[in-house]
Amino acid sequence: MQQSYFNIRVLTTILMLPMLIHSQERTMMELDANWKFKKGDESGAFNVEFDDSKWETVSVPHDWAIYGPFDKEVDKQLVKIEQNSEEVATEKTGRTGALPHIGQAWYRNEFSLPEFEEGKKVIILFEGAMSEPKVFINGKKVGQWNYGYSYFYFDITEYVTKDKNTVAVQLNNRALSSRWYPGAGLYRKVSLIVKNKESIDQWGSYITTPFISEKLAKVNIKTKVTGEKFSLVTHVLDQQNDTVATDTSAALFGHEFEQNLAVSDPKLWSPETPYLYTTISNLYKDGKIQDVVKQRFGIRSIKYEPQKGFSLNGQVRKFKGVCLHHDLGPLGTAINKAALKRQLTILKDMGVDAIRSSHNMPSLEQLELCDEMGFMFLAESFDEWAKPKVENGYNRFFETDAEKDVVNLIHATRNHPSIVMWSSGNEVPDQWGAEGVKRAKWLQDIFHREDPTRPVTVGMDQVKATMESGFGALLDVPGLNYRLHLYEEAYDRFPQGFLLGSETASTVSSRGIYKFPVEKAAMKQYDDFQSSSYDLEYCDWSNVPDDDFVLQDDKPWVIGEFVWTGFDYLGEPTPYDEMWPSRSSYFGICDLAGLPKDRYYLYRSRWNTEEETLHILPHWNWEGREGEVTPVFAYTNYPSAELFVNDKSMGIQRKNDSSPQNRYRLMWMDVTYEPGTIKVVAYDKNGNQKLSKQISTATEPYQIKMEADRTSLKADGKDLAFVTVSVVDKNGNLCPTATNQLKFKVKGAGSYRAACNGDATSLEMFHLPTMHLFSGKLVVLVQSTTLEGKMSLTVSGKGLKKAELPLKSFK
Ligand code: GAL
Repeated sequence: MQQSYFNIRVLTTILMLPMLIHSQERTMMELDANWKFKKGDESGAFNVEFDDSKWETVSVPHDWAIYGPFDKEVDKQLVKIEQNSEEVATEKTGRTGALPHIGQAWYRNEFSLPEFEEGKKVIILFEGAMSEPKVFINGKKVGQWNYGYSYFYFDITEYVTKDKNTVAVQLNNRALSSRWYPGAGLYRKVSLIVKNKESIDQWGSYITTPFISEKLAKVNIKTKVTGEKFSLVTHVLDQQNDTVATDTSAALFGHEFEQNLAVSDPKLWSPETPYLYTTISNLYKDGKIQDVVKQRFGIRSIKYEPQKGFSLNGQVRKFKGVCLHHDLGPLGTAINKAALKRQLTILKDMGVDAIRSSHNMPSLEQLELCDEMGFMFLAESFDEWAKPKVENGYNRFFETDAEKDVVNLIHATRNHPSIVMWSSGNEVPDQWGAEGVKRAKWLQDIFHREDPTRPVTVGMDQVKATMESGFGALLDVPGLNYRLHLYEEAYDRFPQGFLLGSETASTVSSRGIYKFPVEKAAMKQYDDFQSSSYDLEYCDWSNVPDDDFVLQDDKPWVIGEFVWTGFDYLGEPTPYDEMWPSRSSYFGICDLAGLPKDRYYLYRSRWNTEEETLHILPHWNWEGREGEVTPVFAYTNYPSAELFVNDKSMGIQRKNDSSPQNRYRLMWMDVTYEPGTIKVVAYDKNGNQKLSKQISTATEPYQIKMEADRTSLKADGKDLAFVTVSVVDKNGNLCPTATNQLKFKVKGAGSYRAACNGDATSLEMFHLPTMHLFSGKLVVLVQSTTLEGKMSLTVSGKGLKKAELPLKSFK
């Protein structure tokens, strides 16, 4: 026992290091630096002798397409989008982001394996490669994987040597293979694992908590191993690294150990209390340590019950969720933990408690952050099964690959307490026809076989068809995408006794843009290819947020919603699918730069129950609209508020049930514009003044203002500060219509990484150090280097007082 305690301590410290994990028993090395990259069909590039000296040197994660340029011709799709009820095919530019992601490319790298010796095994692990990766080691093909979103690994023991090895990866993105920007390249981590041949299998431990009381939790750990005559000593550690339970087992059932550990006074995981435990499993043979695996988990219970709906740790709650695509705006799809953390921080403040990875496997980093920061997770797998949405989509692989893709999803992620539901598909055309019903059952059975603890949903848009065919009835959780008019009927006809709004809203807006007259409209288009931020515009198949709120609030059997989408993403520029240069979405609650649109505060006023919200729209710079009707809205958690225009009261508005909008927003529809100041004062239900906010008409842009999400970065060459840049007038008022072109310079221990202004029609490249403001704002990303020290971001623009922001980095 003494010995294993020692091992735990050593390993705990060692495992904190992100890049290189060493113990005597296993080594994990991230292959991130010095990759050689080239686009094109470089025949022979798998050969060891191949000369790649002229290729570009890149670090991985890497997205080769994000550096542009935007081009209308890239993946131009002449399609009829059937799920949008289109009847004729039209030319969709921008549908996949108009960035050059199509075609083949190669990545090459060299590595040595000092720990490799007789009796060891080497694994190469990819957390995603876009797409159809073929992997070669020392000139020989070791395997291929088709789905660009899957985590996968190969045993490369037979192909490697101790000293010098070459890995080459060929990727191929086809035209017409996606409905959004899929990204391109080795966009997630690549790692090498060296361990004993006789050891714990990759993703071999499976932790569940089948019994929980206030006093005691049963932690069940199944551990798959290769070899025999082992004993397994497993410890559970709490967040202070104190051991709270230990079990030793020598009984191997086939290739699996099963251990039950009792944790007293368990601290339960929830979005509000994201408490995490850790297991450390030590595998022994003949008294000698053979392998050590560390795994984080949470103790929590989930239940889905008729009428009652969903409960976490015995408490009924509704998902306050958002859907997210995997791109990170100006960074493309190259995974970056700082960027993911910023997204989640913004969503947390809005009151979000759940994320849906649409429509594919989430990054492991995102799941780790959701565990730590407290978000529930709906992990999805596919946007297509056997029937195509796009010609070269996943339909090509479904029959041969779906099972192994699902198995890898579950095995790689099932110990994350954040995951509370799986999704086997989104709006799959297989909702039609008997074959689709069989596929739905087949997939759900695979999920159940690999993880009996979580239910499975499908985001359904063909609700009528799924009522008829039995498709909807067989799912654990019937998920409805939009189709609010069918909620009641679906609840009556489906046997589950509850419904999930697996995808909701798809309201469209452009940050800081307001259109007149203010009216509800579907698929509304304007000459500037923007959508109004009065939050009343949506799509043929969708609705405004308030319509969802009504069902969420009035129907106990609706178990929550996942809004489309938390952030704008590259591609799918509805309602401007055919309009160039629209190239990114308008659906986001936040724009592509991560800046909140007005809608953010509408959701916040409901979902963030800890803090007050009062937000006013529109801005008050309407030169030329003097005397014209310019409605003012307020989003607040308070039931009423009073509007003052230049100190004149426009009356008190109260939330009321006369319409969904009146129930959730305060709206002064008859205000006429005059420059000056508008002020809104919010009152509680007893008429006490609680909060007030005001906006004033700005004069000329005068100076640049900067605000960083973080000013102290980690000197790891990856960390990012997101700096919101705006221009203000002489009195400090935001200039909400400013479009000045700005220039960026980073000095010292950092570098300029990218900028984004959230304009869905902008063709400016993110990585170039200049950009125009959009609605008075943009965001600059500053990246750390591996050097510790001071850095600064300087932003300048013609006729503006420039600004400098000091930042620093530490080891
Ligand atoms: C849904 C679909 C999403 C997105 C959205 C736009 O039907 O699942 O991927 O296309 O519509 O409203």
